[in-house]
Amino acid sequence: MICLGIESTAHTFGIGIVTDKGKILANEKSVFTTKTGGMIPKEVAEHHEKVAEEVIEKALVKAGLKLEDINLISFSQGPGLSPSLIVGMNKAKELAGKLKIPLIGVNHCISHLEVGSLLTKAKDSVLLYASGVNTQIIAFEGGKYRIFGETLDIGIGNFLDSAAREMKIGFPGGPKIEALAKKGKRYIELPYSVKGMDVSFGGMLTNIKQKIKKGFSKEDLAFSMQETAFAMLVEVSERAMAHCNKKELLLGGGVCCNKRLQEMAKQMCKDREAECFIPPNEFLVDNAAMIAWLGIIEHKAGIKQETEIIDIKPYWRTDQVDAVWR
Ligand code: ATP
Ligand code: FE2
Repeated sequence: MICLGIESTAHTFGIGIVTDKGKILANEKSVFTTKTGGMIPKEVAEHHEKVAEEVIEKALVKAGLKLEDINLISFSQGPGLSPSLIVGMNKAKELAGKLKIPLIGVNHCISHLEVGSLLTKAKDSVLLYASGVNTQIIAFEGGKYRIFGETLDIGIGNFLDSAAREMKIGFPGGPKIEALAKKGKRYIELPYSVKGMDVSFGGMLTNIKQKIKKGFSKEDLAFSMQETAFAMLVEVSERAMAHCNKKELLLGGGVCCNKRLQEMAKQMCKDREAECFIPPNEFLVDNAAMIAWLGIIEHKAGIKQETEIIDIKPYWRTDQVDAVWR
């Protein structure tokens, strides 16, 4: 069985092709970019529409397959931007209809966790999912994927991107802040905001904007913002691990490409004799191989969906998914 998965929740349009044994045959993508970093949903959807056929073709060539070799189609049903999600869903319906094969809509957040388990030795982990829009601590507990903690305002990636925009150092901001932080020498105190299991970054962003205006060193600010924001993420991850009595932390989402965050997560795990699993960058950022893999998992578990009534779920919460395959 071979599944073709489509990712289109945000700025990435991706096509992944994965076998039922978990072999990743292709993981192609085209990412919508702008100089300023702003995302207008309509423009993102137009981009996805434009590149879709080309990315599908590229993935098939990479996998050495013809379209007719595909037995299952899966797509990111949510959460995400509606106009982008619709492009992915329509492509998925079109392909499944043409090939007369089953179609499965999957949850984007859970696919980050499942692909991490496929690519690393993680079996039952707490997932720190830190991307542009999403910042969640997820774990399987009591028959469900539960969100133990999350951001109360903006996602960590959007926070870093906004701070970088204020500093006029470009987009995406995460990698730029990471590079700048290496040159930082002094820790500048910033608002540390952990509320129970949740985090928030809005206050820190306002504070940083004021400090930029006052002429604080960008290098020191970049360094301090990483230390503060990542410590918040690691603190809530650790609390979730303790609460669920889990001995594994898995990283997912584009911000987890950050080496300093990885280092802090590894250190925390070492201190509590737990293991820290980090998939390669290609699978940390939004990708379609994870969508194809979750399609395979759900299909194997006997999940069936009626193509005609499948719709996008822009606000789909992780804990609303009936994870019958676990
Ligand atoms: P979502 O899954 O929420 O729809 P997304 O579309 O923003 O997320 P990702 O590809 O997971 O997608 O993550 C993008 C974010 O990751 C951006 O905010 C970017 O700045 C950040 N990022 C990428 N590399 C790094 C890095 N080295 N350090 C910090 N942040 C990074
Ligand atoms: Fe994502």
